[in-house]
Amino acid sequence: MGSKEQSLALVVVLIVAAMLLQCTESLVPFGANYGASTDATHTRVQAGGDHVDLVLDATSAAAFASKNKYLFGSIGMGTKLVPGNSAGTVTAYYLSSEGGQSVRSVHDEMDFEFLGNSSGQPYILQTNVFAQGKGDREQKITLWFDPTAEYHSYSLLWNKNIIVFYVDTVPIRVFKNNEAKDVPFPNNQGVGIYASLWDGSAWATQGGSVPLDWKAAPFVASFKGFGVDACAVGNSVAACTAGNGNWWDSEQYQDLNANQIRQLKNIRQKYVLYDYCTDTERNLVTTECASNWYE
Ligand SMILES: *[C@@H]1O[C@H](CO)[C@@H](O)[C@H](O)[C@H]1NC(C)=O
Repeated sequence: MGSKEQSLALVVVLIVAAMLLQCTESLVPFGANYGASTDATHTRVQAGGDHVDLVLDATSAAAFASKNKYLFGSIGMGTKLVPGNSAGTVTAYYLSSEGGQSVRSVHDEMDFEFLGNSSGQPYILQTNVFAQGKGDREQKITLWFDPTAEYHSYSLLWNKNIIVFYVDTVPIRVFKNNEAKDVPFPNNQGVGIYASLWDGSAWATQGGSVPLDWKAAPFVASFKGFGVDACAVGNSVAACTAGNGNWWDSEQYQDLNANQIRQLKNIRQKYVLYDYCTDTERNLVTTECASNWYE
């Protein structure tokens, strides 16, 4: 085969693989791996666990969480965000060693946070990484599609070398292991998987100037795809750090390939609204930035 045919064949294989992955994931009911954190009015398990609606109203926020904690693997979910006037709402999908409770000095966290907006205005997707208690790594992008129209996948590939944030199949952000440069990396404790929908209007909308419009309540965000392809941490993390032939430890997943680097650079050029790496005012520019942007 010529190289064009080869690329085409690879694309077909990837598409089929993605379809299979979606099928198997949607077959795992919510209750197999997750449980509601708020009552049945606010965490609505639908169609036998096929999908879950988080419902925010004036009485309560809404949330669910994984039953296990995980260390390395591929973790993600299909999400359909609050339609219409969602200004002030925050839909969060995140991994945390602390479950968003009391934050220990060594807590690890990887976040997708979707900041709602007025009808017709674009959502902002904010991501962040905390490693050993150190965060302050916000990036904000706009999305190239309407995230309220249908489910899109938001996922993380996480192994000893790299954390890749994906929107569908597109890498939007990378956080590499830079321990050699004294940058902590999340690699020694399990994280739970959390989703929540809450009133973030105190900070999410232009510094709190746009309050949430409760007349538009209830606000509903939907989630599906509850399979987890990651190493579940039992009593010890050793089984996950040993790298016993898990696919995410194989060489091809240790870094982005050339095509993915092109995709990431395209995101950076067209969609980044804010990046801590270029925030000279807060002066958070650190040694990790150049390698995470493939400069
Ligand atoms: C809402 O959209 C406008 C652009 O139309 C943008 O300037 C603003 O930052 C957005 N707000 C949020 C909270 O995403």
